Amino acid sequence: MLSFAFIALAALVSTTPASAQNTNFPPGVLATGTQGITNPPQATMGTPINQTSMARLLSVNSIDDFCLFAPPTLQDIADSETFEVAWCTQPRNNARLIPDGTFTGVSFLKTDFYVQVMGYGDLTKLNIPAGDFGGELDPHGALGDGNPVGGNVTSNITGSDQSFAEWMLYIGNNQFCLRVCTNANSTYSAAFMCWHELDEMGCSFVMPGNYNINGTFETCEAEVAYPPGWYPTATVNGTPVFSTFAQRFTGTLAGGSVYTVGDLATPTAPAMIPSSSACTTTATISNGINLAGTSPTSGASGSSGATSNAGGTTKPTATGSGSASNPSSTSGSSSTNSNAAGMNAQIYPMVTLVSVLTGVAAVALFH
Ligand SMILES: *[C@@H]1O[C@H](CO)[C@@H](O)[C@H](O)[C@H]1NC(C)=O
Ligand SMILES: *[C@@H]1O[C@H](CO)[C@@H](O)[C@H](O)[C@H]1NC(C)=O
Ligand SMILES: *[C@@H]1O[C@H](CO)[C@@H](O)[C@H](O)[C@H]1NC(C)=O
Ligand SMILES: *[C@@H]1O[C@H](CO)[C@@H](O)[C@H](O)[C@H]1NC(C)=O
Ligand SMILES: *[C@@H]1O[C@H](CO)[C@@H](O)[C@H](O)[C@H]1NC(C)=O
Repeated sequence: MLSFAFIALAALVSTTPASAQNTNFPPGVLATGTQGITNPPQATMGTPINQTSMARLLSVNSIDDFCLFAPPTLQDIADSETFEVAWCTQPRNNARLIPDGTFTGVSFLKTDFYVQVMGYGDLTKLNIPAGDFGGELDPHGALGDGNPVGGNVTSNITGSDQSFAEWMLYIGNNQFCLRVCTNANSTYSAAFMCWHELDEMGCSFVMPGNYNINGTFETCEAEVAYPPGWYPTATVNGTPVFSTFAQRFTGTLAGGSVYTVGDLATPTAPAMIPSSSACTTTATISNGINLAGTSPTSGASGSSGATSNAGGTTKPTATGSGSASNPSSTSGSSSTNSNAAGMNAQIYPMVTLVSVLTGVAAVALFH
């Protein structure tokens, strides 16, 4: 399964006409397939409340109209990535309803390239066990059909409901961050802006912004971050040049051979923290629906009990540690657990970035 390919993004973009999708969206931004089989054919507001729903369609429209993926029954995120279900703040998409009072703070950010929601709360109300630092979900996954399989995401932030191809969600028992990539240009593809292979790094690295928002409910505009792991190093003939960080990972191929990829040093911080502006606040968010008597199913399947910290099912099986979702860290300890939800940033050695790239956007990919 492992292969390396050097991709010149500029070439991809220039050879794929935007008109092929018959929209104004650049290539790679809109989803081209059908909705997952558990999903309604389109995002729909006002569907009946069903707290046992298995639908997997998120909509991310506003601070009081967004959805998250969380387990169908009480279970660690890392153990339920492939079959998590949609939970929405409003009755929509045939999904489960997030109970009022779940969130203690939410920031909804609109940027030119993505919409991003970060929040704190008691996510045990969404079947995430207390103490589960969580993991990372994205439309790729080990099976290539997304984590969860058949999970889809819409937003109307660009003016009407659209299905977006690239998104990423980090979620644990008390924090989440979600980015849906709604635009691209020849420097930043949607896939890079929602890059999904830094699952050890946590929210504040992968989706930087103002995380000092517990107790606040705000909607803001924000600067565009650099794609996760990208660091500008120079400008050559007017074109920015970046170095990129690839998370260290040791895995085993089907044939049994062990490989290690990624950088030896892990950066301590993203290239910059985008500032937000034009914020409006609200006291809280609420759908006003009393869910008494329709509480979510709970207590079911046996989670492993492991404090699994990251998604990572896009990766082959890890060696060494007991958790396939816990790639060995660059600090040299395979058991160092960063918090996937980004709360307890690890202290890493100073930045040493090895893959300085020239050209528009060439990076090493592995699937
Ligand atoms: C739904 O998700 C699947 C799996 O990631 C993807 O192949 C498909 O294009 C998505 N469809 C839509 C409409 O988002
Ligand atoms: C709720 O969702 C479950 C799982 O998809 C489905 O079997 C059930 O029929 C739904 N209930 C209602 C009332 O729609
Ligand atoms: C997008 O969704 C929000 C929240 O449901 C709604 O208030 C708004 O009118 C919608 N915007 C568009 C352009 O459909
Ligand atoms: C793409 O957008 C980013 C962010 O706005 C900008 O810095 C960059 O110059 C743009 N690239 C091109 C080729 O316009
Ligand atoms: C957020 O604030 C609530 C209410 O004060 C608090 O109980 C919770 O621990 C805070 N969450 C985090 C992650 O700090």
